[in-house]
Amino acid sequence: MTQSGTVRILGIAGSLRRNSFNCALLADAQELQPGGVTVETFYLAPLPMYDQDLDTETAPPAVQAFRDALWATDALLIATPEYNHGVPGVLKNALDWASRPPQHQPLRGLPVAMMGATPSMWDTACAQAHLRQVLVFPSALVLPPPEVLVANAGSKFDAEGRLADDTTRTFFHGLLVALADWTRQVGRPRQEARRLTNA
Ligand code: FNR
Repeated sequence: MTQSGTVRILGIAGSLRRNSFNCALLADAQELQPGGVTVETFYLAPLPMYDQDLDTETAPPAVQAFRDALWATDALLIATPEYNHGVPGVLKNALDWASRPPQHQPLRGLPVAMMGATPSMWDTACAQAHLRQVLVFPSALVLPPPEVLVANAGSKFDAEGRLADDTTRTFFHGLLVALADWTRQVGRPRQEARRLTNA
């Protein structure tokens, strides 16, 4: 947290698509953010595919930038589609990079919340359950419910791609409030977390 107590949230999306509903959700987070919270986004496209041969002391620049952004934030907000009832490869790949090296990795103790949008009648529940499983091993502190599941996304965004459904906006605002509260309860200043993982 900043000295003024502001909770910094980093948003990532599990889609690289230009008109992605999940990227649009993250853009709306900046508008819906409650007082005492800031939301910034990190775009995952520049990350290479995980390759343990590339995972050396000098990480690829895009990977280093992602890890630095995770160290610099107080909490992580993930907006993800569901691909074949699971987490899209682009998101799993980013989390695999973030989870290394095991003794000094920025996901440990990082408060995380998730949400997901799909144009189908399903609701990304399978992907979110899968994502929770993926975050266990790196010891992220995943927010219990509320869950934000946006089905029929095509009817919930306006022509400019902004979230136009009041019920969804209320749920989403509640998620941001809950993540900020969760971070104040269980989060640790990231500099302190970095020091402890080095200890
Ligand atoms: C999908 N989609 C999809 N939707 C869903 O509700 N459950 C699913 O299991 C899947 N599986 C799936 C696999 C693959 C490979 C693709 C490309 C798509 C549809 C998906 O939800 C839809 O494309 C979303 O619009 C993707 O999210 P963004 O890009 O709009 O954020």
